Amino acid sequence: MRVQIFEDFDLSGDGPIYRRLKARLAGAIGSGALVHGAALPPERELAQIVGVSRVTVRRAIAELTTEGLLQRRHGAGTFVMRPPARIEQPLQRLTSFTQDMQARGLKPSSLWLERGVHAATAEEIEGLKLGENASVARLSRIRLGDDLPMAIEHSTIPADILDRPEAVESSLYSVLAERGVTMVRAEERITACLLSAEQAALLTVPAGAPALHIRRTGFDAGGRPLEMTRTYYRSDIYDLVADLTYAGDL
Ligand code: GLP
Repeated sequence: MRVQIFEDFDLSGDGPIYRRLKARLAGAIGSGALVHGAALPPERELAQIVGVSRVTVRRAIAELTTEGLLQRRHGAGTFVMRPPARIEQPLQRLTSFTQDMQARGLKPSSLWLERGVHAATAEEIEGLKLGENASVARLSRIRLGDDLPMAIEHSTIPADILDRPEAVESSLYSVLAERGVTMVRAEERITACLLSAEQAALLTVPAGAPALHIRRTGFDAGGRPLEMTRTYYRSDIYDLVADLTYAGDL
């Protein structure tokens, strides 16, 4: 938790001081400066940082707890409670992250972790059916919807299909489409996993939080693999939804 957030609180104004502190805390939760699951500093420390008495801090926290914006956990501290809205991701449509976000009225964006061309690993050669000394473009990014981190994504594309990964600024699929490359089918494998401390920090969730890991291999009409992507979706946001048809008596 960045103490700076609290140091910057401007508590000037009218009315009781605990109400002003409460309003600043609620504002920081509302703006996303304090994220869901974040721990507040202990009461005494917070009182010192913002320059008020412990009684004032206790009262502001008590009211925010009653209103459901904070949660006290015995022996552990006080935590921000603002779970993001859940997203239902259908499993039968081959769409891009950009399309998925836009369809929900959310603004898609990416924070780049890596973008470059490399010699393919044995796994990439096998998965993308490449020749032995093939090169691949690798893209690693945090995917955000309305500035909220939703997933970490690592994509590998044969370099003869994407020779300049820097060409991808927002949507990989749009860049492929501009080059006349169309993915018509994909296979996905979904597994459960726990995020490492580093992954959790990138997704602003507690270390060790669970996630949904999806590995997608996408193919063109001729059956050539075009992409191999591993995505770690936040499981506190994503519901994977499938539409099943009765298969008759088996
Ligand atoms: C989803 C898929 C990825 C795919 C990506 C493309 O996130 N899980 O396999 O690479 O969409 O998204 P965009 O075109 O927005 O880069």
